[in-house]
Amino acid sequence: MENDILSAEKQRDDLEPIELRPRTLSEYIGQDHVKEMMAIFIQAAKNRKESLDHVLLYGPPGLGKTTLANIVANEVGANIKVSSGPAIEKSGDLAVLLTSLEPGDILFIDEIHRLPRVVEEVLYPAMEDFAIDLIVGKDETQKSIRVDLPPFTLIGATTRFGDLTAPLRDRFGVVHKLEYYDQSALEQICKRTASIYEASIVDDSVVELAKRSRGTPRIVNRLFRRIRDFADVLNDGVIDLDITKKALDKLQIDEKGLDQKDYDYLNGLIERFNGGPVGVESLASSISEEVTTIEDVYEPYLLKLGFIKRTPRGRQATEKAYKHLGKSYQGGLFE
Ligand code: ADE
Repeated sequence: MENDILSAEKQRDDLEPIELRPRTLSEYIGQDHVKEMMAIFIQAAKNRKESLDHVLLYGPPGLGKTTLANIVANEVGANIKVSSGPAIEKSGDLAVLLTSLEPGDILFIDEIHRLPRVVEEVLYPAMEDFAIDLIVGKDETQKSIRVDLPPFTLIGATTRFGDLTAPLRDRFGVVHKLEYYDQSALEQICKRTASIYEASIVDDSVVELAKRSRGTPRIVNRLFRRIRDFADVLNDGVIDLDITKKALDKLQIDEKGLDQKDYDYLNGLIERFNGGPVGVESLASSISEEVTTIEDVYEPYLLKLGFIKRTPRGRQATEKAYKHLGKSYQGGLFE
C-alpha cells in the first residue's frame, strides 16, 4: 500500500525528465526571491541542527514546486518521501507514511489541497507537535494513544492556494508563491537543457522557444525536446531558427505560446458565448474540458496575457483576445 501512496508522482506524465532537474539551489534558475529566502532558512536550520520549518509552495503547474522540494532535501542532506493529496485516501495511509520517517526527513505532498479532510486532521498534530493520535481497540476498549514522530519537514505544493483550509495553511512556517518565469530565465533554462543533451542551438532559436513557453520551464523543456526531434530528422541535428519555427507551427504553438486548447477556450468563449461573461462550468462543458484543468492550467496564463477577465458574472474575453484571434471586437460599445 505504501508503494501506491508513494508512487503517485511517477504516474504523472508531465514531469521533468530526471536529467534536467537541477539538484542544488545554485543550479536552479529563476525564482530569485524564493531561492534567496530558502537558502537562509536552510542554513539557519542546519546551523541549529534542527529540522527546517514546514514549507508551502503554490502557483501554476510546471514552475518547479517538485523540483524545489527535491533541492531542499538535497541541500539539507535529508531523505525525501513523495506523495500527493489524492493518493492518501485514509488516515491510516498518512499514519504509515509519517511513522516511516527518519529524523530530519522531508515529506513532500503534492496537490495538498486534495487531501481528504479526515486525513488533513491527522496532519495538524503531526506538523505542530510531531505526534499523531492513533485510535486503538473497539467499542468500550477503544482509546486514543499519542505516538511521537521524529522531527520532519512537510513540504506541501498546490496550484490552488485558495482551496486550502485555514488550519492547514496556518501550520506552514514558510509560504512561497512561484511566479511565471521571465524571458531571460527561460532562455537560460533552454541553454542549460541544450547543453545537458549536448545539442547545438542558435541564440535566435533559444529566444523563440523561450517566447513561446508561457513562462513555464516544463514547457520550454518539452518544446526543446520536440524541436530537437525535428532537427535530428530534418536538419542534421542543427537547431536553427527555421527548423524551430517550422516545428512550433507544426506543433500548433502560436507566437504567444498558446496551443489548440487555449484556442478552443477562446473561440468557445467568443463564438458560443459572445465573449462572455459566462460561468466556467458552461464554458468547460462546451469545450469538453474539466473545470479544474481550465482553472489551474489554461486560465492563469490567459489572465496573465490579459486575454480574459474574471468578473463576478463569469469569464469575459478582452479586446486583446479578439485582436489576437483576428476577430472584430464590439464589446466596448455596450459596456
Ligand atoms: N529545469 C526546470 N526548471 C528549472 C529551473 N528553474 N532551473 C534550472 N533548470 C530547470
